Amino acid sequence: MFEKLKQNESLTVYKPEVLIFPTPQEVDMYAAKIFIAQVKLKPNSVLTLPTSSTPEGMYRLVVQTYKELGLEFSQLTIFNLDEYWPLAPNHEASYASYMERNLFQYVNIPPSQRYIPNCYADDPQIEAERYEELLRQNPVDLAILGIGPGTTCHIGFNERGSSVNSRTRYVLLDEQTRKANARFFPNPEAMPLGAITQGIGNILETGSIMLLAKGENKAWGIQRTLEGPIGNEAPASYLRLHPHVTFVLDQQAAKLLNTSAA
Ligand code: F6R
Repeated sequence: MFEKLKQNESLTVYKPEVLIFPTPQEVDMYAAKIFIAQVKLKPNSVLTLPTSSTPEGMYRLVVQTYKELGLEFSQLTIFNLDEYWPLAPNHEASYASYMERNLFQYVNIPPSQRYIPNCYADDPQIEAERYEELLRQNPVDLAILGIGPGTTCHIGFNERGSSVNSRTRYVLLDEQTRKANARFFPNPEAMPLGAITQGIGNILETGSIMLLAKGENKAWGIQRTLEGPIGNEAPASYLRLHPHVTFVLDQQAAKLLNTSAA
């Protein structure tokens, strides 16, 4: 299907489900509910997961529910969306450290079932190919995504210009992404110029997708993604080519939508 876009033939475009909640906390609650429901429905699910600020509340609630209900995560397999490259092993701003802090230290997902690109691999392209092969062997049931800051509309670290068919690879980060994410680095000057990310093609192959967005600084990107043309100037707009996508937004992130009931 995605080859067709290359050839400019017509494609099936779907209308994503859009849920708008009054507060960011309600976005977290809904996202955690979907995460837990997926694990209950299929304990051996393969999940693609995001990092950074947006999903922190979701992870907190997932961990809380896991403890309260005595859940089992031992059959889950996790593929992270992306990782900075290069960074020192165990660097506090790495997404591997983030996942340890926010989820992995609290739940019983075996280390052998947690995948994240290696931030200190010698060669990022070889590392990307290794990751791609692992993804090929483990079809993903549910992908949870955030959306990039400003006008980037990135998903994973697929910045503007990314192809609909793109696969796991090394990419350079957009200047807006570097500015927004510098806050996570003790020394912002030392922030890497690039990252290893799953491609748009990988994301579109998953069974279902839930994109989370909170706050006013996501409003432009959400409007462009849902109501603008589909194309590589707004990589998140490619999600409209997937039949099972839900956008979970707070009122601030949804405020520029024409169709918004906010
Ligand atoms: C992170 C990722 C990125 C972030 C995006 C938003 O794993 O894939 O696409 O989701 O940069 O970051 P926050 O949530 O900090 O606004």
